[in-house]
Amino acid sequence: MSRPYVLLSAAVSLDGYLDDTGPERLLLSSPADFDRVDEVRASVDAILVGAGTIRADNPRLLVNSAERRAARTAAGKPEYPLKVTVSVSGELDPDAQFWHTGGEKVVYTTDRGADRLRRSGIAADVVPLGPEVDWRLLLEHLHDERGVHRLMVEGGGTIHTQLLQQELADELHLVLAPLFVGDPKAPRLFGPGAYQGARLRLVETRAIGDVVLMRYEPTAPGTGHLARPADRHWLRLACELAAQCPPSGTAFSVGAVVVAADGTELARGYSREAGDQVVHAEEAALAKVDPADPRLAGATVYSSLEPCARRASRPRPCARLILDAGVRRVVTAWREPDTFVEGADGTGVLQAAGAEVVVLPEFEEQAKAPNRHLLG
Ligand SMILES: NC(=O)c1ccc[n+]([C@@H]2O[C@H](COP(=O)([O-])OP(=O)(O)OC[C@H]3O[C@@H](n4cnc5c(N)ncnc54)[C@H](OP(=O)(O)O)[C@@H]3O)[C@@H](O)[C@H]2O)c1
Ligand SMILES: [Zn+2]
Repeated sequence: MSRPYVLLSAAVSLDGYLDDTGPERLLLSSPADFDRVDEVRASVDAILVGAGTIRADNPRLLVNSAERRAARTAAGKPEYPLKVTVSVSGELDPDAQFWHTGGEKVVYTTDRGADRLRRSGIAADVVPLGPEVDWRLLLEHLHDERGVHRLMVEGGGTIHTQLLQQELADELHLVLAPLFVGDPKAPRLFGPGAYQGARLRLVETRAIGDVVLMRYEPTAPGTGHLARPADRHWLRLACELAAQCPPSGTAFSVGAVVVAADGTELARGYSREAGDQVVHAEEAALAKVDPADPRLAGATVYSSLEPCARRASRPRPCARLILDAGVRRVVTAWREPDTFVEGADGTGVLQAAGAEVVVLPEFEEQAKAPNRHLLG
């Protein structure tokens, strides 16, 4: 069930359009912003666009900077990120620039789309996903079969809308360009449908020439199983809190955040906070929430280390404190090693009580960093 980190990237006009209806692609970004896009492309393992964008814009989707390509090669990566497209129909022009520039290409499609694409002799790996396009299957395939950990999605609106509505977007880079399209038949960035969750979290704004970049992270954990888009945001914060702990030679440094189902942060804490030599991160965070707060039942506890199952310093271990608070979901970066307690199994305690425990190993290094001296 592993998926890449999904970054949506788009530019819109002041009236919210992705393009006009003319035959040429409308240039929304400034030259400086195209260079920023080039930098983001160079940082990812794969770039995805929908079939509609290939038909409308005939893009090449390259890393244009030779220095950035050289840096990729020096780091042992392919010169160009993998290029990915998605088509239900399989109606793609085998002469489009997408297939004939850059590095490897893969097209995800339906069974009937695959037949059509193979007959057309398209120069790409064709992967059928069944009778329809299933985004979760597609992302898992990219991760597991193509080693894609970071995916940049460059549109169009149909693709962005589906990924956001299915809660599969981890980050949105939105550029606002100072011009108007004014044509209601032009494509919009996000279409109608059901959007999950609350407000997105604004993490950065940057003026780049005459455009403005806004970076958002969706924060409301949704109803999906296992890892949710917002999990990475909150677990990263927990790992940052772990780095703030007063150092100790005899206890772990851990950070924890309690987050309501609608994405509201209820509390945060870290080990040995406020001069308490034995307080644990989850304990410190939960102590700041009113035990009668009805949001605890739907909340998630993000802890940089698996909650403890046994401890000498307090009667109730953190796994128990979490359950007693009514919380039934925990996200963590690594399982507790046997450093202080033999066979600690906070996950087992939580799961036995019906709680969901999600481990995101991509944060393990960051979570371990303040504990290196304890790990031998
Ligand atoms: N300003 C920007 O940042 C930016 C970026 C990219 C694109 N654009 C603009 O966006 C426009 C294209 O947007 P778009 O929405 O038409 O195309 P799109 O989102 O690029 O692709 C839509 C296509 O994706 C395929 N698809 C894959 N899975 C699907 C699913 N589950 N449901 C429906 N379709 C699925 C379908 O291909 P088949 O039809 O082959 O089945 C569909 O037609 C262009 O005007 C382009 O210039 C702007
Ligand atoms: Zn603990």
